[in-house]
Amino acid sequence: MKIGIIGAGNIGGNLTRRLTALGHEVAVANSRGPHTLTALAEETGAKPVHASEAARGAQVVVVTVPLKAVPDLPAGFLDGAAEGAAVIDTGNYYPQQRDGRIAAIEDGLPESRWTEQQIGHPVIKAFNGTYAQDILDRGRPQGTPGRQALPVAGDDPRAKQAVRDLIDELGFDTVDSGGLDDSWRQQPGTPVYGSQGDVDAIVKALSDASRERTAEWRA
Ligand SMILES: NC(=O)c1ccc[n+]([C@@H]2O[C@H](COP(=O)([O-])OP(=O)(O)OC[C@H]3O[C@@H](n4cnc5c(N)ncnc54)[C@H](OP(=O)(O)O)[C@@H]3O)[C@@H](O)[C@H]2O)c1
Repeated sequence: MKIGIIGAGNIGGNLTRRLTALGHEVAVANSRGPHTLTALAEETGAKPVHASEAARGAQVVVVTVPLKAVPDLPAGFLDGAAEGAAVIDTGNYYPQQRDGRIAAIEDGLPESRWTEQQIGHPVIKAFNGTYAQDILDRGRPQGTPGRQALPVAGDDPRAKQAVRDLIDELGFDTVDSGGLDDSWRQQPGTPVYGSQGDVDAIVKALSDASRERTAEWRA
């Protein structure tokens, strides 16, 4: 499958490693340009590109940049994606450490709804509560007892299924965590955030979530 990854840091780098190892055709971009991605390209076989080109022809596009950088993504960067492409948002709002205050999110807009509005395309929220290292280390074959599960939220059932299938290929179960309006249940500070649990543990953690953003996660 053709996959575009925008962001080549902790998450984008490790997704590039695993997805190329699985045989996918990966184009990867950062903010500084493809000439700064030669080491990752040599290591993985991924194609380093400008952010404006990463989605070209891709059936899955991963947006994995700091939340505050989402508005800086090139205008129209998704225009060349394949018809019906699934766009994965891995982002989290870290107002105190990184992103500054984003009023709409402080007022209760789910973080991925904000990202969707910024990029003008529906997103599927996945990987946001998964440690980058787990992507490399914790994938297991289907049916392995205790296999780690990831919550996946989004409004487009076909895109969501495509993302769930890809996560299964990476070695993880998934839990359908609802539409994006429900995706606050997997934001930072919730019980599921950072969980390495299996399907049952993830279902329970999602249902135990409280909508109120704790002080640690407010601006
Ligand atoms: N780290 C984790 O374990 C983890 C887990 C789950 C979710 N997340 C979330 O996933 C997102 C990415 O996290 P991360 O830890 O992978 O971040 P990171 O290591 O800081 O990497 C961020 C990447 O985004 C790129 N970037 C920044 N601005 C860009 C722009 N305007 N255009 C294109 N690329 C741009 C950076 O490129 P340059 O280096 O060239 O600036 C860098 O490659 C964040 O929202 C984070 O909260 C992180």
